[in-house]
Amino acid sequence: MAITHPSFGTLADDRIIIFDTTLRDGEQSPGFSMNIQEKLRMAEALAELGVDVMEAGFPIASPGDFESVQSIAKHFSKDGPVVCGLSRTAPADILSAAEAIRPAARKRIHTFVSTSPLHMRVKLRLEPEQVLDLVTSSVTLARQHTDDVEWSAEDGTRTEPDFLCRCVEAAIKAGATTINIPDTVGYAVPEDMIRIFTMVRERVPGADKVIFSAHNHNDLGLAVANTLAAIRAGVRQIESTINGIGERAGNASLEEVVMALRTRHDAIPTSNGIVTPKILKTSKLLATITSFDVQPNKAIVGRNAFAHESGIHQDGVLKDASTYEIMTPESVGWTTNSLVLGKHSGRAAFRDKLRALGYGEVGDNQLNDAFRRFKDLADRKKVVYDEDVAALVDDEVVRGNDRVKLVGLNVSTGLGTKPMASVTLEVDGERRDGMASGDGAVDATFIAIRQAFPHEVGLKLYAVQSVTGGTDAQARVTVRLEEHGKLVDGQGADTDTIVASARAYVHALNKLLAKRERTAPPEFQPALSA
Ligand code: KIV
Ligand code: ZN
Repeated sequence: MAITHPSFGTLADDRIIIFDTTLRDGEQSPGFSMNIQEKLRMAEALAELGVDVMEAGFPIASPGDFESVQSIAKHFSKDGPVVCGLSRTAPADILSAAEAIRPAARKRIHTFVSTSPLHMRVKLRLEPEQVLDLVTSSVTLARQHTDDVEWSAEDGTRTEPDFLCRCVEAAIKAGATTINIPDTVGYAVPEDMIRIFTMVRERVPGADKVIFSAHNHNDLGLAVANTLAAIRAGVRQIESTINGIGERAGNASLEEVVMALRTRHDAIPTSNGIVTPKILKTSKLLATITSFDVQPNKAIVGRNAFAHESGIHQDGVLKDASTYEIMTPESVGWTTNSLVLGKHSGRAAFRDKLRALGYGEVGDNQLNDAFRRFKDLADRKKVVYDEDVAALVDDEVVRGNDRVKLVGLNVSTGLGTKPMASVTLEVDGERRDGMASGDGAVDATFIAIRQAFPHEVGLKLYAVQSVTGGTDAQARVTVRLEEHGKLVDGQGADTDTIVASARAYVHALNKLLAKRERTAPPEFQPALSA
């Protein structure tokens, strides 16, 4: 039956609202934090992908979170997505979310409180009646700042059915327009989704006037299956993240839910606004920004998702791809011909390639730097693939605002000689040099970086992967640094593994500096060289 919603008007009967929480639930998982520029870049990509609602962050959590949500709110016009800020029930939380999303052309406040017996007793230390009062007061206050209010029953799938119905009824009466029942701990099975949503929709007065939403975590690997089951039980909004990132085992992966809906339209006939050929590009951008690649066998976006290794499969695919492919690689953004430019290609061809790869209009300075690195790469590498271009452009574009830049590196090493490295950095525009010997060329390089820019951190992970095949392939290095229990990952790509390592270390260092700035008020920020 048709529902009228303040942000979406009258929704077509089969339309599913895609709510993306990559920038909130996704970002709050360890190692996945992003700075404001990275969040904005991701937000643009999500808008191009066609998400309907973008949960931009949790404004009360830190000044950095507030600023990110506010910047995203300012960024989109009324043709863009609804920008949403999360809040608990305290008035200060709600007012912070309201203030952060105020500039948005289309805005939502998402307020939540725990409703399960365990959470109410142990976490909130509140009686159920007190929680019910909080539902009413929080939604009422949120509605004073926007007509589009979502209310969530945290740990909803472990909540007593009668109490859940009372909470949902209170939220609707107070003016919530979307009711979300999250499987916060990833405990539910698909049958639970059907049971819970059917029950609430049948029992709660006014349920036919609101949108129901599913938000599933993946602790048992069931987040996508549960989300599809919830849709079958009448849910009209699904909450998901790119690459399935999120607390612990993550959230339902947007690309998997959307492609399941598209591929199995016969079984679950629905529509949504996602431009599926943009899925891969969005997934890769997130992997670059967060420095976490998806596993090779990840559905839809893993590098093996459309690769056929066995002879029998290859033979079948060559005769007719549908023998082993249930969707086309192109439908999610994979291109069959990824061979691109050579060393004679000019700037115009390079710019065209960037547009084709979905980078839009890259600023002149960034284009110049990326083009210089491309020429350098094309001199060293016989064949330059799309993946190579993406790796080096991501280095330049995503990290354009870094405070610390690697501008020079010299390494000498060999059998029976002590490896030596000299490094030149530019820190806020000022050149700094460091020179060191080490236990191997990478170790020497990292020590030289620490000389040029003194800092105390723990190196928690060093990993090397090749971007494409062949001995001239670019190495993609991941470096994980730790400071006071906070982890950051940096990535760098180059045909020279030591250069890639230095880039990755410097990238991680920049993320650490950004994190310090985001979490500490200005008077407590350590001096740059601390
Ligand atoms: O998993 C959860 O319960 C949440 C809520 C804040 C919606 O992320
Ligand atoms: Zn969640």
